[in-house]
Amino acid sequence: MPLVTSTEMFKKAYEGGYAIGAFNVNNMEIIQAITEAAKEEQAPLILQVSAGARKYAKHGYLVKLVEAALEDTDLPIVLHLDHGEDFEICKSCIDGGFTSVMIDGSKHSFEENIRLTKQVVDYAHDRGVVVEGELGRLAGIEDDVNVSAEDASYTRPEEVEEFVERTGVDSLAIAIGTSHGAFKFAGEPKLRFDILEEIQKRVPGFPIVLHGASSVVPEFVEMINQYGGNMPGAQGVPEPMLRKAASMAVCKINIDSDLRLAMTGTIRKHFANHPDHFDPRQYLGPAREAIKEMVRHKIVNVLGCNNKI
Ligand code: G3H
Ligand code: 13P
Ligand code: ZN
Repeated sequence: MPLVTSTEMFKKAYEGGYAIGAFNVNNMEIIQAITEAAKEEQAPLILQVSAGARKYAKHGYLVKLVEAALEDTDLPIVLHLDHGEDFEICKSCIDGGFTSVMIDGSKHSFEENIRLTKQVVDYAHDRGVVVEGELGRLAGIEDDVNVSAEDASYTRPEEVEEFVERTGVDSLAIAIGTSHGAFKFAGEPKLRFDILEEIQKRVPGFPIVLHGASSVVPEFVEMINQYGGNMPGAQGVPEPMLRKAASMAVCKINIDSDLRLAMTGTIRKHFANHPDHFDPRQYLGPAREAIKEMVRHKIVNVLGCNNKI
């Protein structure tokens, strides 16, 4: 099966009260782990690539690896650009075979965000590619996304209708209190479901995207801390909150940090138990297996997108 867009996936997810997992990919093991779990659970899938991932693995390698996964699994898979910051990177991914791009204009003024998003939408739609926009700003620091807590702001529901109408975007990322990375909440986790509800009322049926949605799986944080790491206070979005979001208008849930934690925790544990190992397959194999089981758990117990092909 060739790559697909998310249009049908989101329609079914919205109606069915579940969400599609959008997992960040950087190398072969991560792609294999995610796609094998999805195949076994018969789950539609979004594989997303950040600017940092493109720099690390190179566009062509990632596209070929995803093509291999398509052949291997015969799943409906979307290849998506995560957090495209300008028209050029979106164009490069559209021209280079992606079926979906995100233009993240959230750091700009409302008017500039609309102009930029519409420019990408016009180019993408002419070529059968779908576009995710963003309104509101998440806090959090990762390679190419860096927003301090003071600069973060919730999405204003009163702006959503106009943004969707004037840009023609196919989905919208919103800020309701999640953040990127492994340290999402200083105290008790809190999400503004009232904002999500208000947005859902203003644009009924329109697919919403939740970024910063790793639950920062405690098992892997403990593993990292136990085997020489140092991540005290790491905290993610509790799974019941993700399930609630998935039952509402949220059709796409972005997960990256949990993949990183599963990989790092498993490799740290492996070396603690096998200090003599030096063949990368000896530690990348178990890491791939840990990611696969974590993704399976997300698909079945959190997102609810299993058996939805
Ligand atoms: O939201 C950002 C993603 O987690 C990608 O992170 O830019 O470090 O690849 P990255
Ligand atoms: P996490 O850091 O919570 O995994 O969020 C990933 C994300 O939003 C990618 O766009
Ligand atoms: Zn994100």
